[in-house]
Amino acid sequence: MNAPLDSAIVHALLKAQPEHLSGAELADDLGVSRVTVKSRVDRLKAQGLEVDAVRNRGYCLKSLPKTLHPAVLEALLTEQKMTAEFRFFETIDSTNTEAERQLAQGCPTPLVIAAGHQSKGRGRLGRVWFSEDPGNLYLSFVFRPLIHPGRMQRFTLWMGSELCAELNDAFDLPVRVKWPNDLVADGRKIAGILTEARIDADHTRDVVLGCGINVNSKISDWPVEVQKVATSLSMIAGQPLDLNSMATALICRVLKAYDLFIADRFADAFQTNWERFSALDGQEVVANGPQGEFRGRAEGIDDGGALLLRDADGNLNRFQAGDVSLSQHYG
Ligand code: BTN
Repeated sequence: MNAPLDSAIVHALLKAQPEHLSGAELADDLGVSRVTVKSRVDRLKAQGLEVDAVRNRGYCLKSLPKTLHPAVLEALLTEQKMTAEFRFFETIDSTNTEAERQLAQGCPTPLVIAAGHQSKGRGRLGRVWFSEDPGNLYLSFVFRPLIHPGRMQRFTLWMGSELCAELNDAFDLPVRVKWPNDLVADGRKIAGILTEARIDADHTRDVVLGCGINVNSKISDWPVEVQKVATSLSMIAGQPLDLNSMATALICRVLKAYDLFIADRFADAFQTNWERFSALDGQEVVANGPQGEFRGRAEGIDDGGALLLRDADGNLNRFQAGDVSLSQHYG
């Protein structure tokens, strides 16, 4: 197991910044030899960490890589005092499928699963989630809410609105939340959420919140049909973004949002998020789903999370499930 020691080294160097940390002290604290510390630091340097090594003074962390690095990500999460279980996979079929496997083995929760690639990324309604590019985030959060299923109705909407708020407020990215569970920017999709739950009659046994976020993808590398509807945050920002910092911020935000949700203390913040970030409110939209096709002006959501659409006759209709198109962007 390399990762726990590597992340402990990165975390110690992060805490010591901007000072140097002696190799002997680091080795003592971590219960390993100085030779082990040196070889791990050398390898971390080869993986993109900039570490200044000075005889008699030790190591000083100068910069972290912007590409997803498990030890860096774990160290940043530790620095933020994140206490959830965390598993990282360079490559996996699907983080949501891994979550199912973990649940079947009785994993502790909350559990966060992150991956660099997915070979079988899954989207809503049986769609494929294009996830081969290593510059993106593929995250699944595993919870055992044990609350009445009726209380779960706004779960995904709330979580999506919180991801959106974090991207706006912490990263200054003009992202909007599009009912029911997309994040969009510049009229194109930048993230999708796939929520999968096991529900008994009176309680929600477990829920997996899967989030795919296009961060540093070059859209020119994507299949043409994906290019038409999606974009990445780096395209919006005009520069590559720091994947480890963004993953840390989003993971911590979702875990806090979950606690607020379970404590039933999310309603005011949810309303504020929706007012600030809804991509649809006030727009003419077409909605398609099991209830058929609706057209109308989007006027927010109700307490059950249904989209409210005002039709041409002035009637307010509730649209519960399906897809919504705003313009030609969404096809
Ligand atoms: C959608 O918009 O259709 C939802 C896409 C959800 C994709 C994420 S990526 C991480 C997690 N693992 C999956 O296989 N799917 C979700």
